[in-house]
Amino acid sequence: PASPKLDQHRPQFHFSPKAHWMNDPNGMVYFKGTYHLFFQYHPNGTTWGPMHWGHTTSKDMVHWQEQPIALYPDSLGTIFSGSAVVDVNNTSGFGKNGQTPLVAIFTHHNAQLEKTKQSNKYQYQSIAYSLDEGKTWTKYAGNPVLPNPGITDFRDPKVRWYEPQKKWIMTLATKDRITFFSSPNLKNWTKESEFGKEVGAHGGVWECPDLFPLEHNGKKAWVLLVSINPGGPNGGSATQYFVGDFDGKSFTPFSTKTKWMDYGTDNYAGVTFANTGDRTILMGWMSNWQYAEAVPTDPWRSANTVPRELGLKEVNRELYLTSTPVKELDALNDKTTSLNNVAVKGEYDLTAKTGSKSELFKLTLAAPANDFAIVLANEQGNELVIGYDKAANEYYIDRSKAGKTDFKKEFGKRHTAPRLATDNKISLTLLVDVASVELFADNGLTVMTDIFFPEKDMTRLAIKSASGISVSSLKYTTLTPAVNDG
Ligand code: FRU
Repeated sequence: PASPKLDQHRPQFHFSPKAHWMNDPNGMVYFKGTYHLFFQYHPNGTTWGPMHWGHTTSKDMVHWQEQPIALYPDSLGTIFSGSAVVDVNNTSGFGKNGQTPLVAIFTHHNAQLEKTKQSNKYQYQSIAYSLDEGKTWTKYAGNPVLPNPGITDFRDPKVRWYEPQKKWIMTLATKDRITFFSSPNLKNWTKESEFGKEVGAHGGVWECPDLFPLEHNGKKAWVLLVSINPGGPNGGSATQYFVGDFDGKSFTPFSTKTKWMDYGTDNYAGVTFANTGDRTILMGWMSNWQYAEAVPTDPWRSANTVPRELGLKEVNRELYLTSTPVKELDALNDKTTSLNNVAVKGEYDLTAKTGSKSELFKLTLAAPANDFAIVLANEQGNELVIGYDKAANEYYIDRSKAGKTDFKKEFGKRHTAPRLATDNKISLTLLVDVASVELFADNGLTVMTDIFFPEKDMTRLAIKSASGISVSSLKYTTLTPAVNDG
């Protein structure tokens, strides 16, 4: 097998397909000790094309093993985004002899019908099941299970069990709003309600929703994720969310303030794993429709974000979503350098201090909320700058000089994110993996995910502060590759 390092820009601890095009994560489910990730996949090219569900599995969400394609297009259409559930009670009846079926619920996209323009009913929901732990899938003979009522964009079903009323709830993106449906058996669906026509960001079509409960101060609140494209806070695709109540029929937000899960431009269509108990874990597609098909990678395109554990945090009477890297990633920790009370005036050379030129690392630091920047660079003069701007009270990632940008004019930009935390001490964690940076500030209250394409490996790391800053604690950890090339 080829060394993964032959592929410049190949992530080493994020999942990317060995070859060809990937977009949204689909059907994420934990079952019998294995995490399954399916994904929008075009196996015959490195741009978007007739969609399949690719498949990869992992024991820890960190080391992935790519599997054969799970779902192929058929006479009803190509296979768009959707979810998977463990049908514990065999409500679908697909289980035989006491077997527990895995059921995938996805959108069939009928490109033929779309082309004729005679009907706008070319997206509808179908199901498939697996009785061998996700290895092989059988499409249901009664597909589609949810026909299209006449809505152009009618897709991306995310299904979960609603225990109080013992029924399945489907959260579906329906153009400019979310529609909730329910079902006793995953086969017959009844419309329950609509949400969102009047609230939230509407700069683009609504896609890939998710609805899940989270605990906050011992109480349950429901989070509704809605990806939109375009219309994100820094351009292109992004994911907004609402926090509120869900009663099995309707979702009622506590507040209509527009909130973004991630302010970087490279976390889209993220949804959560099914069947992970008390933990709520999300992965997103680490790209953006603005330039995804043009990024300079070969022979594959796109990776996922690291898995993130979601929580809620209250700030000024608003509930916000927090995202932090899952603890399983600690398995990659290699050598750590810990420093305390580091006085930075001008530039502080971390490469010299740690002796590490690794392209894979985690940096955690705590510092007063004053101007500072973390600069990742190479001898080519490429620079990626991640920082905090006190006057604007914003975090930012500037990739305009971080390497290749000319493949798409929207790419080489500086992105900003409001700081939501109100204390005067910043804490942040950065995960850097060859061609991506994930910033988790203030315990995941402000998150930014950006990809970048340096001309040469980024081997230099420094902290800069013109006004001067004392970093109270800093931890730099090199990470070991998780890419399984076998
Ligand atoms: C989001 C999306 C989904 C759709 C899929 C098609 O990125 O547009 O709405 O199901 O991609 O590949």
